Amino acid sequence: MAEANPGITPQPMGLRSHYIGSLPEIPTGESVALCGWIAHVREHGEHLVFVDLRDHTGMVQCVVAHRSQLSVEAAARVTGVVDRRPPGTENPNLPTGSIEIRVSTLEILGPAAPLPLPLEDDRDVDEYTRLRWRYLDLRRPRMQRNLRARAAVNAALRRAMETQGFVEVETPLLWTPTPEGAREFLVPSRTQPGAFYSLPQSPQIAKQLLMIAGVDRYYQIARCLRDEDLRADRQFEFTQLDLEASFVTQHDVRRVVSHAIQAAVRAVRGHEAPPIGEITWREAMARWGSDKPDRRFGMELIDLSETMRDSGVRALSAPYVAALVVNEPLSRSRLDELTKRARSLGVQGLAWFRVDSTDPLAVSSPLLRVVPGELVASLVATCGARAGQTILAVADTFVRATSTLGQLRLELGRHQARPEELDIFWVTDFPLFEGLDEDGNPIPAHHPFTMPHEDDLDLLEHEPLRVRSQSYDLVMNGWELGSGSMRVHRQDLQARIFRILGLTPQIAAERFGFLLDAFRYGAPPHGGFAFGIDRLVAILLGEEAIRETIAFPKTSSGQDPLTGAPKPVDPSVLAPLGVRVAVLRGSTS
Ligand code: AMO
Repeated sequence: MAEANPGITPQPMGLRSHYIGSLPEIPTGESVALCGWIAHVREHGEHLVFVDLRDHTGMVQCVVAHRSQLSVEAAARVTGVVDRRPPGTENPNLPTGSIEIRVSTLEILGPAAPLPLPLEDDRDVDEYTRLRWRYLDLRRPRMQRNLRARAAVNAALRRAMETQGFVEVETPLLWTPTPEGAREFLVPSRTQPGAFYSLPQSPQIAKQLLMIAGVDRYYQIARCLRDEDLRADRQFEFTQLDLEASFVTQHDVRRVVSHAIQAAVRAVRGHEAPPIGEITWREAMARWGSDKPDRRFGMELIDLSETMRDSGVRALSAPYVAALVVNEPLSRSRLDELTKRARSLGVQGLAWFRVDSTDPLAVSSPLLRVVPGELVASLVATCGARAGQTILAVADTFVRATSTLGQLRLELGRHQARPEELDIFWVTDFPLFEGLDEDGNPIPAHHPFTMPHEDDLDLLEHEPLRVRSQSYDLVMNGWELGSGSMRVHRQDLQARIFRILGLTPQIAAERFGFLLDAFRYGAPPHGGFAFGIDRLVAILLGEEAIRETIAFPKTSSGQDPLTGAPKPVDPSVLAPLGVRVAVLRGSTS
């Protein structure tokens, strides 16, 4: 696990003369006054008590020469003298392990009731309990480290943006719908009963308006709110480093973002980030079956389309055939499970070939009845498969074949990823649309303000799924860290895209008329980006969930066990807002 750079140790003030982390530098015999929490109490006979006192910089053993009533996690102040520990009693695992404090006074400033959860090992405590007692949970050194690392990242990002000439502008939280694809949180208006504000899914539209306003280079450490299902990398509320610039190319935007990311890596890890590479979306899908590939382990997909073309094998004839080599002779039952899993991901089936021996070639597969021997040989050769390995293959469209195997690759191989490694790269040239909705309208892969590739404008109406966009994602260790694009800045093109998305001119005018209107007044070409700070900090700290980097996150079911939110509201509070609660059947879906 990466050690967070602790940053500057503050100057002590108030009731303390020193922070515990600075004690190893202090000569023995010096008097100190320390404040913190009692981490452990060990009684040794009638007149000797060892108390471990902890603050956010460290922990030290205090020797108390009388018996006192002490409870763990009480807030305490200790005065005494720094002393060497007797030989043989040092603790090499603690930075202060060779010293102890000979206590003159021990004052309990805030007594502690018996603890509702153990603070020793947070990994054994369930999420609900940790969040119910979050202020205790946050006392753990790991959580203190995380909060402070996050603050260091925010500071580094601000500095990086300021030095690149970006201006911080705060945009409203009470806003209007922003099309980022998630459900919105609504806030009823008291002054206009029956009308609602939307909490912003991102400052997307506001920052584009700031470009038209002449701000030129904008950034914000922005709170965003999306009512979507929560997962390890998703919360309702999260924070982006959001930015936008005018009269720039996507290369300029990406350079600015790369600089900010490098600064954040330095702030937490204390070393330079690896160079940030770049691949196209097509390459990401073809090689790893994902638009946010985890490249910290191998198992790249193989394109079998050419090998299988004209083979006449029904199960393997499709526009694209992708294969994955698993370094194990998978059992029949495991292969049945994987086939089921592949079907649940939306493909017809999963073909497999288990290579029992390569000399001479012996392969097991249910398809041997229909695939001729020389085709099996060339398939094994194209995959470079050896004895003891299993080839999995999916024939479907390019996206379905690659993304299904990409998911199986992750599930079968993720444990091999090197955890300490940082793999950061751009994915470029995304398609503008990711598919069609039930009504046959294209769905934006990013959002509807993304500029199509100039060469593909003619395809917009007739072959929308072939249109490439001028958008780019940043991927870090298999997580989508952020995304951005060059924007449409011409009213006619934006109106055309709304039309293609199936928005009638009337709906487009109702929802985004103010933006289309703004494009009439000298809108500069512009582009930008946003990345999730919660995700960035989690990856840099080696945490698996972003809630470990957020002071007061929600549980996976969206609750805050500490405050009890969300809570019912008295009808007398709702009436002035023009709101009445009617619990409808199915209203939670
Ligand atoms: P996008 O919707 O891709 O783009 O979001 C950018 C980044 O925000 C983070 N993120 C989240 N983090 C935690 N919980 C969530 N629920 C959540 N949703 C998103 C991710 C994601 O990559 N306005 C555009 C950006 C632009 O075009 O400039 C936008 O918001 O890290």
